[in-house]
Amino acid sequence: MATTDGQGLGDRMKTRVKRAIESVVCRIDPAYVSYRARRDWNHAARHMPREVTATFDARDWETYWESGRRQVRDLLDLARRAGPLGTGLAVEVGCGLGRLTRPLAGHFERVVGVDIAGEMLKIARRDAAAPNITYELLKTGERLPVDDGAADFVLAWTVFRHVPRSTFANYLDEARRVLRPAGSLLFEAQVRESDPRPEPPPCDSFSEREYSPAELRACCSAHGFRAAAEQFGPSVTPGTQTLIVVWRR
Ligand SMILES: C[S@@+](CC[C@H](N)C(=O)[O-])C[C@H]1O[C@@H](n2cnc3c(N)ncnc32)[C@H](O)[C@@H]1O
Repeated sequence: MATTDGQGLGDRMKTRVKRAIESVVCRIDPAYVSYRARRDWNHAARHMPREVTATFDARDWETYWESGRRQVRDLLDLARRAGPLGTGLAVEVGCGLGRLTRPLAGHFERVVGVDIAGEMLKIARRDAAAPNITYELLKTGERLPVDDGAADFVLAWTVFRHVPRSTFANYLDEARRVLRPAGSLLFEAQVRESDPRPEPPPCDSFSEREYSPAELRACCSAHGFRAAAEQFGPSVTPGTQTLIVVWRR
């Protein structure tokens, strides 16, 4: 029997069972979460690289790269308003195609862009290269390839909203480890004032994770940061906002 979406009942059952098994595997083995994320983002990089990395600035490449330059100017302004910002090393987590990494290279002596998806980095190395940028593949999505206390600035733009809370927590610890004292972490999250949507399954690589502003503020001190700036902005998901934060070590 065919259902309204054209999928047979048997196929639907198979999909449900597959999802349920995957969900259990993800809970048992965190490495599977990274495997799934890598597979999904690699696929997206092959088929719609601009759309998945900058949905609203994906019209053409010129618009895409220009959006990165504009955004880096705005984000660095915000970071500097929150306190002095060193110009040595910047680390971008989830750098994608290097849309923001390349403009960052104009403001820092050295930039390390890391991503879980090799297909993203292939494009970044080809189209967003600069002598002071290194692009590195994160093998497990666990540890940043940067020495303790070496970085002045860590940026993660539209990355943490797509990862499970456990991965987010790991990256906060990693950001703290690689930042020098008084270094800055800047990221954005999708927030809902009350009753954030339940956490999607860990192997769902794209659905947005939601936080309450209070939960994020609690994360800040729990991971050894001091909140230095917050900026609320619009979000396409009804009832939510985008919250940009600058936390200092
Ligand atoms: C929406 S894109 C944003 C790319 C880039 N920050 C930008 O604004 O142009 C999200 C990026 O995060 C990467 N990503 C997803 N999960 C990740 C993880 N666990 N660790 C590191 N990068 C991840 C994806 O491969 C993708 O390149």
